[in-house]
Amino acid sequence: MQIIHTVSEMQAFARSVRASGQTLGCVPTMGALHAGHASLVREAAAHHEHVVTSVFVNPTQFGPNEDFSRYPRTLDSDIDVVRAHGGTVVFAPPVDEMYPSGTTTMIHVGGVTAPYEGALRPGHFDGVATIVCKLLQAILPDEAYFGQKDYQQTLVIKQLVHDLLLPVRVTVCPTVREADGLAMSSRNIYLSAEDRQRASTIYRALRTGQALAHTGETRRVAYEQLMRDDISTLHDVTIDYLEAARAADLSTPDAFEHGEEIVLLAAVRMGTTRLIDNLLACVGGETA
Ligand code: PAF
Repeated sequence: MQIIHTVSEMQAFARSVRASGQTLGCVPTMGALHAGHASLVREAAAHHEHVVTSVFVNPTQFGPNEDFSRYPRTLDSDIDVVRAHGGTVVFAPPVDEMYPSGTTTMIHVGGVTAPYEGALRPGHFDGVATIVCKLLQAILPDEAYFGQKDYQQTLVIKQLVHDLLLPVRVTVCPTVREADGLAMSSRNIYLSAEDRQRASTIYRALRTGQALAHTGETRRVAYEQLMRDDISTLHDVTIDYLEAARAADLSTPDAFEHGEEIVLLAAVRMGTTRLIDNLLACVGGETA
């Protein structure tokens, strides 16, 4: 397995893969890899001869009071995870390689960035769109893999790729969960033992929303009421949002159509940790 630190070396590697008639998958990450990332690497390795996993804690997607400086940085164990799951390259550039001095360009994706994370974390999706675009320019992959856990982010990235005509296929893979349903996240390590136990309530709340969809409930407000019931029993927990929206574009009509695909979205703060999660559902039907 190769470890690459510079954009020029990364691009040269990608060109040599293409010249040899092989294909390249990529898994962009911020490191602190867990079983969710491992599943993305495995999926990419099942479809491509080469898999590049990028490990880059992107400063521009963190707000001033967020956890950029304490975000876990575990490159050695990340390399082990990538190797164990069939990855062939780890691309771990330093900050000045991705943001060379004199950089002034940031990318703003419209539409799907407006609600939810976009409203609560101003500038976050500009940072995500900018770094994903740069990583795709550096890695030059045929296909890029992302986890459904960051559902809104996947919509933003699809829109970015569509709007900027980027020659890459975007594949979204299912969220990997702990035995009790908590979505795997690099931030779960911040949870106290008590909060870790309570955190699975988020998944349970989303499941009640999913079950409600399957009954054919169309009123959007009914979802919020039901899902909040579960979580509002917990003390010291702040719900940033716990809602249903249209899966395609996150729009929020008063009533959904029968047969429409919706997404149940949660962002909940427990102690100093902010957790997000989501589930898809079809109104009046089983989700595929
Ligand atoms: O999902 C993440 O880990 C990050 O937002 C991403 C896509 C790697 C961009 O920094």
